[in-house]
Amino acid sequence: MYSVSIDLDRRCYDICIGRNIDLVGAILASKLSAGKAVVVTNAIVGKLHQDRIVAMLEEVFEEVLVIQLPDGESYKTWDSLNHIFTSLLNWECDRKTVMFALGGGVVGDITGFAAATYMRGIPFVQLPTTLLAQVDSSVGGKTAINHPLGKNMIGAFYQPRLVVCDLNTLETLPIRELRAGLAEVIKYGPIADIGFMEWLEGSVDKVLAKDSSALAHVVQRSCEIKAWVVSQDEKEAGLRAILNFGHTFGHAIEAGMGYGVWLHGEGVAAGMVMAAELSRRLGLVDAAFVERLTALIARAGLPTKGPVLDAADNAGRYLELMRIDKKSEGGEIRFVLIDGPGKAVVRAAPDALVREVIDACCG
Ligand code: NAD
Ligand code: GLY
Repeated sequence: MYSVSIDLDRRCYDICIGRNIDLVGAILASKLSAGKAVVVTNAIVGKLHQDRIVAMLEEVFEEVLVIQLPDGESYKTWDSLNHIFTSLLNWECDRKTVMFALGGGVVGDITGFAAATYMRGIPFVQLPTTLLAQVDSSVGGKTAINHPLGKNMIGAFYQPRLVVCDLNTLETLPIRELRAGLAEVIKYGPIADIGFMEWLEGSVDKVLAKDSSALAHVVQRSCEIKAWVVSQDEKEAGLRAILNFGHTFGHAIEAGMGYGVWLHGEGVAAGMVMAAELSRRLGLVDAAFVERLTALIARAGLPTKGPVLDAADNAGRYLELMRIDKKSEGGEIRFVLIDGPGKAVVRAAPDALVREVIDACCG
């Protein structure tokens, strides 16, 4: 087992990465209370992995309760959140109750937000089961639900007490989801570690084949980079925004197509090509780097072009959707751009240039 620490003063926690991890031992080491445990999962993950997790939790907790949500991004809503609150209240859960998020980023984000707000905050543990959740969403304490007007618009920064990335759970993950998770892995190279991008260029096929040591390296290096960023800027006052490389365009794609039609990682993949191309047109990076990144994304089996969201004014529709972004300031869209390989910068760009990029990168 490999362990990465998130360094946040009194809220430090470990990310355990490996196979057949001793969850009981990790919980005992985290000094969580042993009263009630509430596992939040969804119908698909629950069927595959819930019994094993509940059995382990029963070794530690007096009572283990389970909430199964319907599957999918379209259930990352106020209604699902309220269903969780109602269950917690009906079960008389108190402030020492520990919540466990067993699933991908959807379950992780909504469980984290429920834990952040139930009785003004109760402890929670992330048990991520998708590649995307293991390399990104379970780490760093961003929790949220979607609003019909924008993705992840309602939420809180609230850190888990422990993250356990069991690589065995990825065995059941469909290949499309594995590819989508790879988008969040690929992003770490251009923004922070060009050596990792080089390694990926040589190893992407092994990752797609779920090679054990390649997967372990992917999760470990991604968590290290994310931990390094989050430890410096927990609440995204500056640096942390670089983790949103490709996300401004990507969120517009997800919202514009209707949540769930394009997976989050697929939107991020096409969004990274657009953001790299915008960087090139602003003179920050050369064409060879854009081609290199595009080739890696294509080899991962991810889209390198965005969809047409509006046949009459596609760029206008993207711009409209991108203005509803948490990085926007005073209605001005701010993009994560590549400022030379391995370095990112966050800044605005002229609408006319963004329109050119959208025209060139969609279809
Ligand atoms: P997801 O949670 O919808 O999971 C993808 C699909 O895989 C679902 O159908 C799920 O049921 C299924 N699944 C999960 N684990 C499985 C397994 N082991 N075997 C078989 N099927 C499995 O999607 P995701 O890609 O994990 O996460 C996307 C979400 O994460 C988005 O809502 C996005 O906004 C959020 N996100 C949050 C952060 C953050 O920092 N909090 C970062 C990135 C993304
Ligand atoms: N996924 C982006 C972040 O955690 O900041």
